[in-house]
Amino acid sequence: MQKNMLRRNYYVITITMLLTIVGVYFITSRCNKNNFQGDMPFEQATTLLGELYKDKSGFGIPSEETEIIRSRGGAPTYGEISYKAVDTILNDLFITDEDVLYDLGSGVGKMVLQSYLSFPFKKVVGVELSTKRFAQSVEAKDLLEEKELINPNRTILFLKEDFTESDLDDATVVYLGSTCYSLDLMNTLVKKLSKLKKGLRVITLKKFSDPEEYNFALIKEYRLPMSWSKSSPVNVYELKEQMTNTQSRV
Ligand SMILES: C[S@@+](CC[C@H](N)C(=O)[O-])C[C@H]1O[C@@H](n2cnc3c(N)ncnc32)[C@H](O)[C@@H]1O
Repeated sequence: MQKNMLRRNYYVITITMLLTIVGVYFITSRCNKNNFQGDMPFEQATTLLGELYKDKSGFGIPSEETEIIRSRGGAPTYGEISYKAVDTILNDLFITDEDVLYDLGSGVGKMVLQSYLSFPFKKVVGVELSTKRFAQSVEAKDLLEEKELINPNRTILFLKEDFTESDLDDATVVYLGSTCYSLDLMNTLVKKLSKLKKGLRVITLKKFSDPEEYNFALIKEYRLPMSWSKSSPVNVYELKEQMTNTQSRV
């Protein structure tokens, strides 16, 4: 009788322990899922972005801001890369959780947030000189935070500064919505980017004029939709070897 009781207790304890282990595993994996590893499906991410940006627009900034951007050699003209284009390019780049993205001229930050939601970047950064656009990118990020959709182990950063002066040392992927960037600005950027880590991928709408001189190889060309066109050129370069200061003519 006592033996049977002991056996029953043993079974009860074992089953309870097993159920606890399964429960903890289930809760932990749910938490990880909710902690956003950058695996949100395209449709879900674009619906969410539509919600975050429903009252926001990067078009039309005060004339003082336009002047500030021009005076820094920048291009204030606005336009956005489409969700589809971001999805196509980043899927082809096989982004991992070691990757760090910079959008140089990030506008209201849509490209940065889409990259965070649907790709496993460990850090995404948007750099924007317009106060109005920058403020809207921060608002969108705050909304994401309110919805508890930010993973504390992954970084989203918006910086209000001139991207020619930004510290990009940890960049592995850089996006330039450069259609309106001047030749001078493109040259400044290619020199700056050539000093980053070997293997850096640069997605740029405008081609580099002399990529080989800066150790860049064109690895992919597309025509993809943008807010201003159904089919706009997009170029992806890879940095084959980091340029040293002595190699660079700057
Ligand atoms: C064509 S928009 C691209 C917006 C965003 N990357 C996208 O595709 O949705 C280019 C942005 O670059 C910003 N910009 C231009 N020159 C800049 C500079 N030197 N530093 C920081 N931002 C700059 C402009 O204010 C503008 O918002």
